[in-house]
Parts: sequence; structure tokens; C-alpha cells
Amino acid sequence: MSPRIDKHLTDSDLAAALARDVRAGLPSTPKELPPKYFYDARGSELFEEITRLPEYYPTRAERSILEARSAEIAKVSGADTLVELGSGSSSKTRLLLDGMRATGTLKRYIPVDVSDSALLDAVGLLAEEYPSIELHGVVADFEHHLEQLPQEGTRLLAFLGGTIGNLAPAERAAFLASVREQLSPSDSFLLGTDLVKPRERLVAAYDDAAGVTAEFNRNVLHVINRELSADFDVSAFAHVAVWDESAEWIEMRLRTSTAQSVRIAALDLEVSFAAGEEMRTEISAKFRREGVEAELAAAGFALTSWWTDAPGDFALSLATPI
Ligand code: SAH
Ligand code: AVI
Repeated sequence: MSPRIDKHLTDSDLAAALARDVRAGLPSTPKELPPKYFYDARGSELFEEITRLPEYYPTRAERSILEARSAEIAKVSGADTLVELGSGSSSKTRLLLDGMRATGTLKRYIPVDVSDSALLDAVGLLAEEYPSIELHGVVADFEHHLEQLPQEGTRLLAFLGGTIGNLAPAERAAFLASVREQLSPSDSFLLGTDLVKPRERLVAAYDDAAGVTAEFNRNVLHVINRELSADFDVSAFAHVAVWDESAEWIEMRLRTSTAQSVRIAALDLEVSFAAGEEMRTEISAKFRREGVEAELAAAGFALTSWWTDAPGDFALSLATPI
């Protein structure tokens, strides 16, 4: 079956959202940008490279849980439709698709991502690997377009990778509530969360020796330079990864070594940075079982299964609407 692609977010919508977020986040103190703008074609490639780094354990940990549990997830959920938010390359997803295929239920896969390059590449490969299923890719923002996603079938809605940790607590609550609103009683929700662990391993995972995460972080400045005709001196920005013990999240920041005044021509905006000033570009929250269970319950979900990898680095939760 030939794949279908829906676009709820055009390039110009994304550029307009970037313009709004830059106008709101750069003149503020401290300066801040949302993480979804990392993922142009280059940023999506860099993220894939991150997933293969020796220090970046989450992808391998989540993969090992999926290897052990995909058959069970397929059976328990009874889903014929897999919807995945922030699907990226869909690489671990193949384990879920294979589990559903083996139980004989798999009818369709609906990957949803803000990055059209990542989505199109993934769908192209999946169409060859799974020729008999319906593939329906959706370019969309999972914080804004959930109600526009296809509604067919009994759905397993997956949100993998720990991407939920990139949302601030209030955004997370709103996001989980809107996921709940979209699901029927017979649907299921599969959520990947990275777990709290000692600072050294966390900081190493977000500040790798090869400098790939640093390049991923700085990529957002290339995106702003290109999309909004800005003149960030990207090479003056150092990558910073800090573990915030009380919030239990990693913060990625960009710190300019020299004072610079940045002109963002498309916004007719001038932003000044003092030498040493930092801008927050991402949080990556780490979780504990009680917190995940409580956040799911607050959104109207009951946790039905909690699985971790053998060392207890990462968790997968299966939940059903209450
Ligand atoms: N799920 C994959 C990819 C994780 S990277 C994995 O586990 O490896 C995060 C993905 O979420 C990227 O592909 C990025 O483009 C996408 N993403 C980030 N913010 C998004 C948003 N607001 N809406 C939709 N997709 C988003
Ligand atoms: C997509 N997300 C779960 C990644 C994370 O670990 O928070 C993004 C990332 N940032 C730096 N490295 C990876």
C-alpha cells in the first residue's frame, strides 16, 4: 500500500512558530528556546548520531525493554493501529510493529513528527519493510494537533525515547490530558521515561566526549540564522549540560564566550548577550515510578504495567484510560 502523508504543520507554520518563540524567549531573562527547533534535517541526523554514542544509554535501554516486551504489549493492548508521537526515525518502533504483526493484529502505523525530513525518510523505509500495512505519516506538533490525528482502529499510542521529559511540568500535564482526551476506553498509551540516576552518568550522556550533543545543541542557532535571517556567531557558543538536583532534570544551555549583539532581521529584533551569558535550550526531566504513576493518574490514566531494563536506567509504562 502506498503511504499517505498529512501535513498539519507547513514549513511556513513552523517558521512562524519559531518567530513567536524567539520573540518571546530571547529578550527574556534568562533567555530560553523550546527544544522542538533542534530537529531540522541536520538536527534529526545529529539526534540519530547521539543515540549511538557510548554515553547516551536511553535508546539502548528502551530498545532492550521493547525487545523483551513488544509481544506482550501487542497482546495486552489488542491494538491494530500504532500511533507514535515524535517518531523520528521510527527505529525502535519496528519492534512494536513486529510484535503486533506476530499477534496478527497490525493494520496501520501512524508516525507523527514535527520534522518532515525525519518523517519522510522513516516512512520511505517502512513502506518497503511493511508493504501490507497502511502507513499514514503526519507532520504535526504533538502539543497542538492531537485532535487532528486519524482516529481509526483500536489504538496503541506510543511516546517513546523519554521525549516527554523535554516538556516543562505544566506543559507535560496539559499534553497528557490532551492525549487522554483523544483516546477511547479500548485504546492504550505506551510511555517511555528516562529514570533518575547519579549525576555523573546523566551529565556524560548530555555532554559526550565526541561533542555530538554540543553540535546538536548549537544546531538551533543555525536554524534561527537560516529561518529568521539572524547573525548568531555560532562558534562563540559553548555547550553546557547541568543536572538540576531539585528539579531532577538535565538542562542544556548555550553559553557565549564573548559579548555579542545578534540581529534577527526577519523580526527586526536586536538581542544582546553579555560575555558568559547562558540561554536554556532544553530540559530533559528524569523520572521515578511514583511520579510517572501520579502524572498519568492526574491525566486520567491507570498504569497497568511498568517495565525497566535490567540496570533500571529507563522505564516503559503501559497505561489505559480510566
Ligand atoms: N522517538 C524517537 C525520536 C526521539 S527524538 C526515539 O525515541 O529515538 C524527539 C523527536 O520528537 C524528534 O524526531 C523531533 O522532531 C520530535 N518532536 C520534538 N518536538 C515535537 C513536537 N512538539 N511535535 C512533534 N514532534 C516533535
Ligand atoms: C528527544 N529527547 C528525549 C532527547 C533527550 O535525551 O532529552 C533529546 C536530547 N538532547 C540531548 N541529547 C538528546
